[in-house]
Amino acid sequence: MDSLLIKGGVPLHGDVTVSGAKNAVLPILAATLLTPEKCVIRRVPDLTDVHFMAEILASLGAQVKVDGDTVTVQARKVRPVGNYELIRKMRGSICILGPLMGRMREASVSLPGGCVIGTRPIDLHLKGMKSLGASVEIEGGYVNLKARRLIGADVFLGGRAGPTVLGTANLMMAAVLAEGVTTIESAACEPEVVDLAFFLSKMGAKIVGVGSPTITITGVKELHGVEHEVIPDRIEAATFAIAAAVTDGEVTIHGARPDHMHAVLDKLQEAGVKIERKGLTMTVSRGRRLKPVDVTTLPYSGFPTDVQAQMMALMALIPGLSIITERIFESRFMHVAELARLGADISIEGPSAIVKGGRPLSGAPVMASDLRASAALVVAGMAASGKTLVNRIYHLDRGYEKIDQKLRGLGARVQRIEQP
Ligand code: UD1
Repeated sequence: MDSLLIKGGVPLHGDVTVSGAKNAVLPILAATLLTPEKCVIRRVPDLTDVHFMAEILASLGAQVKVDGDTVTVQARKVRPVGNYELIRKMRGSICILGPLMGRMREASVSLPGGCVIGTRPIDLHLKGMKSLGASVEIEGGYVNLKARRLIGADVFLGGRAGPTVLGTANLMMAAVLAEGVTTIESAACEPEVVDLAFFLSKMGAKIVGVGSPTITITGVKELHGVEHEVIPDRIEAATFAIAAAVTDGEVTIHGARPDHMHAVLDKLQEAGVKIERKGLTMTVSRGRRLKPVDVTTLPYSGFPTDVQAQMMALMALIPGLSIITERIFESRFMHVAELARLGADISIEGPSAIVKGGRPLSGAPVMASDLRASAALVVAGMAASGKTLVNRIYHLDRGYEKIDQKLRGLGARVQRIEQP
């Protein structure tokens, strides 16, 4: 497994361009199963999660062609049974459920299981499908869904931690080809859900209210092939902004959507980080003095859970007491012990992490536990003195396109150590 060797203490300077959003492209690729016609998706990031999704689509019978950052999918015929091993590897693969139900009225998908950030149930996904008339049974690790007809319904999709992003995506993708009208209450408002709805609308779906907690979908008989460019990755952009701040550098981030990043930009500015916005470009630098801040992760448009770990790395460098409260995934604090290896002083009290910041960080070997935790360790390693070795960076490759190359382009001393 590859590792990343970081020589810290080098301020990042220069320009970086944001890639397409992982969390938008996965459901959009899945949605290509809804039509036998050809779909062309542009600005697709080169990520292992995207490769997995391409393999899953191919295993379901679709023809998939990758040409640079353009992926062409044509699913003339579809098999409703997903490959057990492929799906188990990636939580995001659950988003094939909705398209399979929409197109085939049948889906058989291996249960995605838990992961280090929490139990990650799919009860809300199944509630959505049942509301449209599907029967659900679990057998041999597979969840099998079937419906003679899919009929639109009013569905309240809120859960214990609020709306569900992929649950909303799944219900939307089934409902576009159902009979009649479906209303989703407590729908996720994330920009990635909006991008998916935009893609579906171009295909001929009738969707209103997207971006708000109430989405109304009027089913249509068929959908058509389209071309689409995926939105930029707001989590990647936020990670580069934080990297600029922790290293006391100045980075200009191109091709981002600052309008998708209000909560993050607002918190960074409250912490004293300087952000100059000009259209789709942001220039980020540390500012004169950093101040401690408190952050609570929330569904969009609140502070994203996917930036919590990176924000914690910044807090570790700010003199004073900062608190992060995690409200989306209960066990998403795996990075705390690893940040402590670099010298950070962080304690966990229930759903909150209390960061006593301002102690100098020094490099150490650390272990990446999940995607965003890995990003936090890379960010912290760049701020630490000496060498940091981040092991198991396959997590990073799942969600950050060419991260080592992009960081080197900003002057970081980062080297990938390939291990067979
Ligand atoms: C998506 C993102 C992930 C992000 C998360 C929250 C993708 C590929 N992944 O994941 O990066 O961290 O949104 O913004 O887009 N829940 C239930 N029952 C369900 C489904 C979810 O209780 O059936 C709970 C979860 O345990 C969690 C909360 O709802 O506490 C939000 O999860 P959800 O929005 O569904 O996350 P994902 O869509 O899996």
